[in-house]
Amino acid sequence: MRELVFRDVTVRFGSGHGAINAVDGVDLAVPAGTVVGLVGESGSGKSTLAKAAVGLVPTAGGEILLDDVVMRRARDRRRLQMVFQDPYSSLDPRMTVGDSIAEALPGRRGRAARRSEVARLLELVDLDPARATELPSGLSGGQRQRVALARALAADPEVILADEVTSALDVSVQGAVLNLIRDLQRRLGLSILFISHNLAVVRYVSDLIAVMYLGRIVEVGPAADVLSAPQHPYTRTLLDAAPRLGASLDDAVPADNEILDEEPPSPHDPPPGCRFHRRCPIGPLVVTDRTICAEQDPHIDAVSRPHRAACHFAGGEHVNGAGGEHVDGAGGEHVDGAGGEHVDGAGGGRVNGAGGGRVGGAGSEDASSAGNQVREVPTR
Ligand SMILES: Nc1ncnc2c1ncn2[C@@H]1O[C@H](COP(=O)(O)OP(=O)(O)OP(=O)(O)O)[C@@H](O)[C@H]1O
Ligand code: SF4
Ligand SMILES: [Mg+2]
Repeated sequence: MRELVFRDVTVRFGSGHGAINAVDGVDLAVPAGTVVGLVGESGSGKSTLAKAAVGLVPTAGGEILLDDVVMRRARDRRRLQMVFQDPYSSLDPRMTVGDSIAEALPGRRGRAARRSEVARLLELVDLDPARATELPSGLSGGQRQRVALARALAADPEVILADEVTSALDVSVQGAVLNLIRDLQRRLGLSILFISHNLAVVRYVSDLIAVMYLGRIVEVGPAADVLSAPQHPYTRTLLDAAPRLGASLDDAVPADNEILDEEPPSPHDPPPGCRFHRRCPIGPLVVTDRTICAEQDPHIDAVSRPHRAACHFAGGEHVNGAGGEHVDGAGGEHVDGAGGEHVDGAGGGRVNGAGGGRVGGAGSEDASSAGNQVREVPTR
């Protein structure tokens, strides 16, 4: 079991005025033997972060460590494997399933040893070893994703970076693949960074949840805490969409909230202060005296907190009144830091849209939906 740690990692694309920091000073740990779910809107930098770990994109700053050792060369990364969303493009259509998996086996070994290892790996992902002679075109999407997993496991990894691995699959097979991932994680003691747009899916597999916004981690904590008591307004927005199982986080914006209807800002020109302040339902657009949000970056103080939320007003109580009123800190004092007290005040009604009563719904109703989803019978 290995711990993967991102320490102040930045990934830059382009140069000069056109440059963007797709990942901007990310601190995140995937503790040994745990699953960290990574969520966030399209373009927030999730895939780029995972690619940086496996060396598919270079970092412009920071360090990526495996068990406290900075990974510098390809060799250091051999215990990390990434699995992608699209099993169609990650497998060579001209190679048999068996050859695809055998190609990823480390070291030299004889034909018989290769064949038996391929059979073992196919069984590990609940596929009949006889399928080794088939081409990917003969398999369903779910079966191809199993082969992609077997190929990743061939390298005997200790850390898996799973990037939207169920997103391209029919809902009917998503559950079986998720069950397989959980099962493999436990049996092999893997550490997994699990990226998904679907909070129901993330909830099902994750021990910890990290939320990414515009290249930054804005909240991270134990899955149950993040889902039942989200501290960052952006996380609450995402949870608001979660009861619609299968909904993309890009559709997370409640239709009746014109502030959140704003497109996410461009990574070419991230807003000063808190990057979420031009869309935040409890930020300065709503509570005008919260000028600190546009001036000071809450990211810096957040890193040292156990349940980390990069928000000057994080950690307030959610008060759901009879009318469903959610008064989380709106108009209240700035108490700098998670866990601080929030004072009920003006703008409560408006803030309500950011996730008052529905947060509980997201954590409970959705959970049962996710549970149903993952009870699907695996397809072989
Ligand atoms: N190779 C690249 N060259 C230039 N820009 C890139 C490259 N790859 C990603 N980007 C940009 O980096 C930002 C983060 O992209 P990334 O693919 O990591 O987001 P994501 O969170 O994985 O999104 P999605 O949910 O759509 O997969 C985006 O603005 C994207 O346009
Ligand atoms: S720091 Fe201000 S703008 Fe940013 S999320 Fe918190 S309240 Fe909203
Ligand atoms: Mg992506």
